[in-house]
Amino acid sequence: MLSIVVAVGKNNIIGKENGLLWHLPNDLKHFRKITEGHTIIMGRKTFESIGRVLPNRRHIVLTRSSDFQVEGVEKASSIEEVLKLVENEEEAFVIGGGEIYRQFLPLVQRIYMTEVDIEKDADVFFPAIDSLEWKVVEEEPGVLDERNTIPHRFLILERVERS
Ligand SMILES: NC(=O)c1ccc[n+]([C@@H]2O[C@H](COP(=O)([O-])OP(=O)(O)OC[C@H]3O[C@@H](n4cnc5c(N)ncnc54)[C@H](OP(=O)(O)O)[C@@H]3O)[C@@H](O)[C@H]2O)c1
Repeated sequence: MLSIVVAVGKNNIIGKENGLLWHLPNDLKHFRKITEGHTIIMGRKTFESIGRVLPNRRHIVLTRSSDFQVEGVEKASSIEEVLKLVENEEEAFVIGGGEIYRQFLPLVQRIYMTEVDIEKDADVFFPAIDSLEWKVVEEEPGVLDERNTIPHRFLILERVERS
């Protein structure tokens, strides 16, 4: 099964100039908890924005470039190739960015979405979610403190089964 992990601000903003738009250590912890021990799938730009291989996770990076080669990273040159690489996995995680979310959204069953109450200028957006196709199955408020000052909540959305 494929899932998406994403942190979304107001108006579906997710990034600007190949970086994130807020600092929220709670969300980074949440991301680690969900993805550790599993496979993460990302676009080449998101990989470059993270800037390193994250510990305890299998990395698959999508790129059309033949030059891309990074130790500890598997390269895929199409969505189909990714699907083959993860076909035996119970749950693999699509972690962005905008281009990759758009292409994988029709293929995923679950979305781990952190909603962040912030408005900012952005150049990358999460695709619109059809509320008839997705239902919120879990919702937990984020706890604010001196390091986590922006109100946020952790949602899990699941695709509605059609009868
Ligand atoms: N808020 C969040 O949760 C979150 C999460 C992740 C990322 N982000 C943000 O999102 C932004 C990056 O997103 P982005 O949309 O610019 O880039 P991206 O989706 O990370 O990567 C795009 C790249 O992926 C490769 N690619 C895309 N589709 C492909 C396909 N079908 N087959 C093979 N390769 C394919 C191409 O790489 P080549 O050009 O090498 O061919 C393309 O340039 C950054 O600002 C980042 O901080 C936010």
